[in-house]
Amino acid sequence: MLEAQSENVGQGKALYNEYCASCHSKNVKDFIDRENWVYGDSRSDIFKVVKEGADLDGMPAYAEALSDSQIAEVVDYILAVIEDKKSADFASGQDDDIVFVSEGMKLKLELVADNINSPWGMTQSNDGRLFYTDKSGKLFSKSDGADPVEIQGLPKVVYRGQGGLMDVILHPDFDRNNRIYLSYSKRKEDDEDLSTTAIYAAILQGDQLKQGSDIFVAEPFEETFRHYGSRMIIDKDGYLFLTVGDRGRRDEYPQKLDNHLGKVLRLNDDGSAPEDNPFFNTPNAKKEIYSLGHRNPQGLCYDAANHRVYDNEHGPRGGDEINLVEKGANYGWPVITYGINYTGTKITDLREKEGMEQPLRYWVPSIATCGMAFVSSNKYPKWKGNILSGSLKFDYLHRDVLDENGKVVKEEKLFPNIGRMRSVLQCADGFLYFGVEDPGKIYRIVPLR
Ligand code: HEC
Repeated sequence: MLEAQSENVGQGKALYNEYCASCHSKNVKDFIDRENWVYGDSRSDIFKVVKEGADLDGMPAYAEALSDSQIAEVVDYILAVIEDKKSADFASGQDDDIVFVSEGMKLKLELVADNINSPWGMTQSNDGRLFYTDKSGKLFSKSDGADPVEIQGLPKVVYRGQGGLMDVILHPDFDRNNRIYLSYSKRKEDDEDLSTTAIYAAILQGDQLKQGSDIFVAEPFEETFRHYGSRMIIDKDGYLFLTVGDRGRRDEYPQKLDNHLGKVLRLNDDGSAPEDNPFFNTPNAKKEIYSLGHRNPQGLCYDAANHRVYDNEHGPRGGDEINLVEKGANYGWPVITYGINYTGTKITDLREKEGMEQPLRYWVPSIATCGMAFVSSNKYPKWKGNILSGSLKFDYLHRDVLDENGKVVKEEKLFPNIGRMRSVLQCADGFLYFGVEDPGKIYRIVPLR
């Protein structure tokens, strides 16, 4: 039925797939499935926002890339799908216990939590409590078989665009000190229009956060609501790594050392900068910088055995990357990239340049990477040493097999159509978990004998 209708709206569907799907999900049904339309849902409202864009929210203007009649075709297509939704039954029909096979391993997905908006980050304590954030600004803890408990005492977050409550990690000594870290988009105190990425640390007592404070606030604050980065890990030496995106201002920040944007940062557990950071003694450089030239890294993972940190980051249109994150290295954004502008225009001709690192892999078209896990658990013997990346756009989990030199020698698409994948993690219990959006759910990947 949907197919038949889209036939009547000319090139609308093809244009949507080419120009819009990269950010708004490849399935237009997911795009239109929203409680309210911030810019209005009439034909003229949608036309206007597509033509003129909404810069602060990260919606590009298509006035130059598309003609008015092309824009009208996309808008008609979107309206047709909205109409279709009103009359159709949208029960997702998703079976919560599905069996998959990968490398001869039989795997089952178990639903661990639902009723979440966007499970942006998660972590697990040694006693088996799963902690997960909801981007809207909530933090939950959940023991198996029990109801989730909402934790109180959180910082106020900017919940708009790509901003909100993001990642959650525990101090390595959490069993004793109950210290918990949250990354989030923080509003500037004396200027409502500006926000940035920050880390809030607190002590968990019962279901309350106590003695909380911001231990790190990225500079400068910006007026956009996108590219906050925000993934955190702690390595085996106790250093905390945080990613911060370029905030949509690629020419201003990622290649300069006087700011934290478009960087991977390395901090002590109290938020201060370790003295052996690469630019600690560089005049006018931010001491927290570990690597630069990043766009919007929303995945970060750690291979403890080899002491390697990896990130994945969204490219523009095409050019999502996985990088081995090394001390002092420059990953080239926006000087080199495998991507182009969303509107189809060029960013640069350069794919490589001396002094700038090549990614371990890149994706064209973009899969919109988010969340990342390095598999070391014995529970998945055939996946050991593999890197998993979530795909927001294509609704699956991507598995990369690397050789000793970090070259991708094999890849696999796992759990197709499972949902917009936001987070993926190997937890303290050795199981892999991932979170999807629309509707928000967390699954555990359980190997079957
Ligand atoms: C670079 C990513 C990106 C691309 C590409 C993109 N958009 Fe958007 N768009 C956004 C963001 C971010 C928002 C604001 C958040 C949201 O509403 O999803 C937005 C908002 C919108 C809105 C307003 C939604 C509302 O609630 O009022 C419409 C309509 C829209 N986009 C249509 C399109 C169409 C049609 C295309 C393709 C021609 C497109 N977008 C391409 C990122 C993008």
